[in-house]
Amino acid sequence: MTAENTSAPPARPPCPWYRRIRLWPRSLAARTAFVLLTGLVVVQTLGLGIHTLDRNDLVRLAAVRVFSFRVMSIYRDLAEVQPPQRAQRLRKIELPPTFSVTLMDETDDLFSNLLPTPPPIRHSILLNMDSFPLPPELRPQHVHFGVNPETRHEYTALQMPDGRWLVISSLLPSPDSIRGTEFLIAFIVMTVLAAAMTLWAVRRLTAPVRTLAAAAEALGRDVNAPPLPEGGPSEIAAAARAFNTMAGRIRRFVQDRTLLLTAIGHDLRTPITRMRLRAEFMEDDEQRAKMLQDLDEMEAMVSATIAFGRIASPNEPVSPIDLAELLRTVLDEAGDAAPEIADRLRYEGPDHWTVRVRPQAFKRALTNLVSNAVKYGNCAQIRLLQPGRQGGTLRIEVNDEGPGIPAEHMTRLLQPFQRLENSRNRETGGVGLGLAIARDIARAHGGDLILGNRPEGGARVTLTLPV
Ligand SMILES: Nc1ncnc2c1ncn2[C@@H]1O[C@H](COP(=O)(O)OP(=O)(O)OP(=O)(O)O)[C@@H](O)[C@H]1O
Ligand SMILES: [Mg+2]
Repeated sequence: MTAENTSAPPARPPCPWYRRIRLWPRSLAARTAFVLLTGLVVVQTLGLGIHTLDRNDLVRLAAVRVFSFRVMSIYRDLAEVQPPQRAQRLRKIELPPTFSVTLMDETDDLFSNLLPTPPPIRHSILLNMDSFPLPPELRPQHVHFGVNPETRHEYTALQMPDGRWLVISSLLPSPDSIRGTEFLIAFIVMTVLAAAMTLWAVRRLTAPVRTLAAAAEALGRDVNAPPLPEGGPSEIAAAARAFNTMAGRIRRFVQDRTLLLTAIGHDLRTPITRMRLRAEFMEDDEQRAKMLQDLDEMEAMVSATIAFGRIASPNEPVSPIDLAELLRTVLDEAGDAAPEIADRLRYEGPDHWTVRVRPQAFKRALTNLVSNAVKYGNCAQIRLLQPGRQGGTLRIEVNDEGPGIPAEHMTRLLQPFQRLENSRNRETGGVGLGLAIARDIARAHGGDLILGNRPEGGARVTLTLPV
């Protein structure tokens, strides 16, 4: 049961902008995908990073090997000729563009300005030199290494058999596969493929949760909704079985309650008829009239009880109807029953609006609300408020200009057989089931009934319906 809350909630301080930025997604599928994809990108980056470092090492080794081989080839070419011809020979050697070669008497000045070559490169060059085929008498006497940190040139000085120095400088290639396009393409292709598979798998895995939510929603509207399929992975099948068992129990409970109500109502009719017959034989006219009046009231209550049971039974199928049309019909019928206020019955809202409901039950709920407005408020104005763009709830307001409903009685009046004391007279003589029935029907459609009052006076009863 719901009663409209008239007091405004305390104003909250405005939320700072950074709190409004949502990084953590709401849905289970999006959260799982987010975690898996983040993990995937981290693992991919680390894996490819390790692979790249490894590859760079290999490329550097190969480059050093080629460099050493070139250095030794130049050295051999010069060492094999007589010292006076070396300068001339040097000019004839075809050098790679990054190489420059000079013959020097002294290297101390040059190497005092250089930094030592990193040991791994130095060792690797020396190792490759040692394995170069060269007669022992031609092997260099001494070797110096140095590197110019500004130009990143590697200097290698080899002492020739005559004591002079052959200085070779070269820009050592620095392998950088991270900048390579293949690396980027490989990274993107692998990430996109893995992301697509992750999204597909996550959607598949979370689909049963959505099905379960939809089934629970459908059960709220219709206890006879079809059962869930009990296939799929064992956990999902177990959840579906449990859900179906629960739905079956609810269905039986509703049927038992309906049956009980109808049976009591039905069985009471016979004794009431017998009592009416006996009352006819009563001698005291006044007592007889009172007795018959009581029996009339009892009969009305029994009929209402049977109707309540029938309404609660969810056998009527759900079908699409034009709600705007139905609301106008209900008002027309109320106008036929009370022609004196026919001009005070109004409808406000769209000309057509299709909803899926149980037509008879829904009409009954609306008739109850309109008849209350007419009985207690002497007029009825229906407003159909469409749901917002994002979907949501349809609202049907039934307004009147009567005394309104006291806030302290709102909860009680939604219970069966509850009425306000001042409505206990013959003219407005109902049994107090109208609102209870209307709320039952609204809830059976997944909606609710909200009692309230208009700010300018009079009652406002709102029936909500999810769409
Ligand atoms: N629009 C209204 N304005 C003022 N009071 C109302 C209004 N609607 C309902 N009530 C109060 O709520 C009580 C319960 O209403 P409800 O429709 O359940 O029963 P009823 O109208 O008395 O009988 P019936 O079963 O015939 O509808 C009413 O008796 C009345 O006192
Ligand atoms: Mg009523």
